[in-house]
Amino acid sequence: MSEQSTDLRETVRRRYAAAATQVTEGGTACCGPEPVEADENFGSTLYAADERAALPAEAVAASLGCGNPTAVAELREGERVLDLGSGGGIDVLLSARRVGPGGKAYGLDMTDEMLALALANAEQAGAANVEFLKGTIEAIPLPADTIDVVISNCVINLSVDKPAVFAETFRVLRPGGRIGVSDIVADDTLTPEQRAERGDYAGCIAGALSLTEYRTGLAAAGFTDIEITPTHPVADGMHSAIIRATKPTTR
Ligand SMILES: C[S@@+](CC[C@H](N)C(=O)[O-])C[C@H]1O[C@@H](n2cnc3c(N)ncnc32)[C@H](O)[C@@H]1O
Repeated sequence: MSEQSTDLRETVRRRYAAAATQVTEGGTACCGPEPVEADENFGSTLYAADERAALPAEAVAASLGCGNPTAVAELREGERVLDLGSGGGIDVLLSARRVGPGGKAYGLDMTDEMLALALANAEQAGAANVEFLKGTIEAIPLPADTIDVVISNCVINLSVDKPAVFAETFRVLRPGGRIGVSDIVADDTLTPEQRAERGDYAGCIAGALSLTEYRTGLAAAGFTDIEITPTHPVADGMHSAIIRATKPTTR
């Protein structure tokens, strides 16, 4: 990894460590002297009231996503789900409820403070079918062909090596497995410089792929049935979007 990429990843890690600490100390991840930029387009208001009510307050307070991937992934009883960049654990806990005791929900995150918060939230929720893993989404610490569904909420834009994320996601999915991701995407007309003018990297804006770059990246990794659906604007020419794709059953 280049020095610039290492620095960028460390900036991201520090920003989300600060957000987790703020929640652990009784605040929310989004408001006050902001360690991360957030507004009504990000966070827990993107979840239904009954989903929020069923979770520990700290899991809701730590929500920093830009959508609700568990609502689009159509999770079924018994499935194995992996959440890339699981943060305070909100989507892991919602997934665990949907897949039931016969299924399992993994959360993967690189930030110790977020992992500690997620573990505390899982304990408070009494969730037995969850496991949090430390690592990066560019080198997923799970064997090949073992996961039914990969979800993620506003994290892939933060990666300094998106082709590696797509390749690793493809590797861990079983043939026929699928992704249901929320992420930020840019209009194809916006250059990387224009994206950076609209927000910073750790705030989930500057690192966003364009619609075509997202589609091309997923296809290059081997995904098919790729659908990218913008849901709401987050900046001029930039949107939160739902991304769906499938790992084919035959190679
Ligand atoms: C915007 S927050 C979203 C958290 C969570 N998905 C949610 O919806 O609240 C980004 C999270 O991804 C983690 N993260 C960012 N880049 C990562 C990477 N390359 N590998 C693993 N985790 C990463 C951060 O530590 C942070 O917890």
